[in-house]
Amino acid sequence: MMDQATLRAEFPLLETCLYLNSNSTGAIPRRVETVLRRYWQTLVNWRDEIWSGWLEQTQAYADAVAGFIGAPPGSVVTDVNLSTLLARVATCLDFTGRRTKVVTTDLEFPTVPFLWRGFARYGADLEVVPLQGHDVGALEAAIDERTRCVCVTHGAYATGALLDLERIVARAHAVGAKVIVDAYQTVGAVPLDVTALGVDFLLGGAHKWMCGASTAFLYIRPDLLPELRPAATGWLAGADPTGFRPAAGWAPDARRLSGGTPMPLGPMISRVGLDLLALVGIDEIRRHSLACTDRILERADAADIQVLTPRDPDSRGGVVCLRFPGAEHVRNRLAGRGIVCSWRGSLRVAPHIYTTIAEVDAFMDAVDVERKQVGR
Ligand SMILES: Cc1ncc(COP(=O)(O)O)c(C=O)c1O
Repeated sequence: MMDQATLRAEFPLLETCLYLNSNSTGAIPRRVETVLRRYWQTLVNWRDEIWSGWLEQTQAYADAVAGFIGAPPGSVVTDVNLSTLLARVATCLDFTGRRTKVVTTDLEFPTVPFLWRGFARYGADLEVVPLQGHDVGALEAAIDERTRCVCVTHGAYATGALLDLERIVARAHAVGAKVIVDAYQTVGAVPLDVTALGVDFLLGGAHKWMCGASTAFLYIRPDLLPELRPAATGWLAGADPTGFRPAAGWAPDARRLSGGTPMPLGPMISRVGLDLLALVGIDEIRRHSLACTDRILERADAADIQVLTPRDPDSRGGVVCLRFPGAEHVRNRLAGRGIVCSWRGSLRVAPHIYTTIAEVDAFMDAVDVERKQVGR
């Protein structure tokens, strides 16, 4: 196992600030600079054959993501962002019959309700279930025989709560509904085995916990692939895209959820971070994350700060959300001192595998100081 000092040396950002912002944008490893230089050299020495290598590298990243989340090769496809991939999944679903319901929660990232409301014109009927904390009981109750799909977050972006995917999958599958999981806030911080969970679709992206940039990914349960016919599509989804003829059929693997010409730089950059995380191992990442978030909780309690994140380790992801008067102002003041976190209705404090406990303490000391300044 790589020691933490060696790991930290891989992330130049950590030399410039105190960084507790990894659920918003993760730090990028220094070896990405080599990737960028190589990319530039490729552009200036352009030859048409380069595309085949780029497509191979894009596919290799998708397969590496698959390995990281317990999925087989060929079950993951990438694109520039999660919203694009989710929309593409949505166009595979039929809302013309009795099953028109899309069940989601009030904990979702804005893309989710925004997108499904758009699908009302195709017959989708969105039900947003308010959850008390993170208990999924109300969600289970809303899933019925009219439900086409359940589209939920794994980790809530504004509270850090984890939803119990096992219960959601069990209930949805019992009534014949599909489960689509937005795992952007958890892949890279929380262990996930999509095969063991039996989820139908799972989405995530590189630029938060995965220490990458400019790419997102979609896992599709392999046995569902033959029945998927996306309406939002492109030439790369065809069975023989480089034949450059009207597509005779869909690609047999997850590539059938591709669109047009990809942006290969995102997967190339993101491969560096993924390989580092895989080297450390997700169990070690989780162990360290819980140690850091335990410390944040301890310090918040000592300072009498309200915590929005569940305390039970099984119910919290990698972030702790703190609420107190003037929190947004405190975030801005911290940023002015080179202390980086985010504010989404509360102060989101997100350590990662490269964060030290000493940094967590320094961060909470700074919050104490700035709260007093703002409260004056
Ligand atoms: C839970 C969640 N889903 C999705 C996204 C972003 O999606 P996209 O890649 O479409 O920008 C975020 C990022 O901020 C997020 O926190």
